[in-house]
Amino acid sequence: MMDFSHVFYFLLVVLWPECGWQPVSLTDMITSSAVKKVYRKANLCIHPDKVQQKGATLEQKYTAEKVFDILKVNVQILNVHDSLRSNKDNDEHLERKILDPEHLSKVESIFGNLSETIKIYGPWSSAWVGEAGGAYNSGGNHVSNRFLNSFWYLDQLGIASCYSTKVYCRQTLIGGNYGLLNTTTFAPNPDYYSAVLWHRLMGKKVLAVSSDVHIKDFYLQLGNVSRS
Ligand SMILES: *[C@@H]1O[C@H](CO)[C@@H](O)[C@H](O)[C@H]1NC(C)=O
Ligand SMILES: *[C@@H]1O[C@H](CO)[C@@H](O)[C@H](O)[C@H]1NC(C)=O
Ligand SMILES: *[C@@H]1O[C@H](CO)[C@@H](O)[C@H](O)[C@H]1NC(C)=O
Repeated sequence: MMDFSHVFYFLLVVLWPECGWQPVSLTDMITSSAVKKVYRKANLCIHPDKVQQKGATLEQKYTAEKVFDILKVNVQILNVHDSLRSNKDNDEHLERKILDPEHLSKVESIFGNLSETIKIYGPWSSAWVGEAGGAYNSGGNHVSNRFLNSFWYLDQLGIASCYSTKVYCRQTLIGGNYGLLNTTTFAPNPDYYSAVLWHRLMGKKVLAVSSDVHIKDFYLQLGNVSRS
């Protein structure tokens, strides 16, 4: 889920030998727990306090500081591009998946695990969804660009908010079937209006709400309905 490998290769190039950074191979980072280990090791090598302790030069301190910032940024990005896992243009299962509360909630374990990772390894950082289109490979025609898709989209925005996600990037504004605007006419697709409504109605504070009624979760966030 989290691809840090490019960052770790970058470390090899910019860090000096005495800082303790050892090369890692891609095969060492197959499982997420292995990635976490490497990430923690990298953080230890370039943490400003550690670098200070090891008597680094001014230039090395500066480099460490910059790399530390890059690691911080990279731990924040989570891609949930394929949460509906459709790779066909007309996946007949796509509609069923969107209307299946259980399927939609599967992504919660990713958000939950990410917030655990952040709590343990990067409490200074926050989660972002870097790219979310629902169904990868450009989305499904007649689904991703239809009203139906907002059941997925709004639900995802709700889940993301419950896990303190700071930024949610929708793939895409224009392009593919999941574009918020039609690729040729630029006419807004239904999800565009859902995004506008979300922005207007939902505030920053998330409240825990529940119900005995067996329907898909609902979300409540304090907002200013009268905002212009
Ligand atoms: C979240 O973590 C649990 C426990 O480590 C694991 O079983 C589950 O597969 C993880 N979920 C995802 C989506 O990575
Ligand atoms: C864009 O709109 C045109 C005209 O309504 C339609 O034929 C086309 O399928 C739309 N494209 C997408 C990707 O939704
Ligand atoms: C509601 O609007 C007021 C005044 O514009 C602002 O100070 C406040 O932060 C807003 N609250 C939310 C939850 O957006």
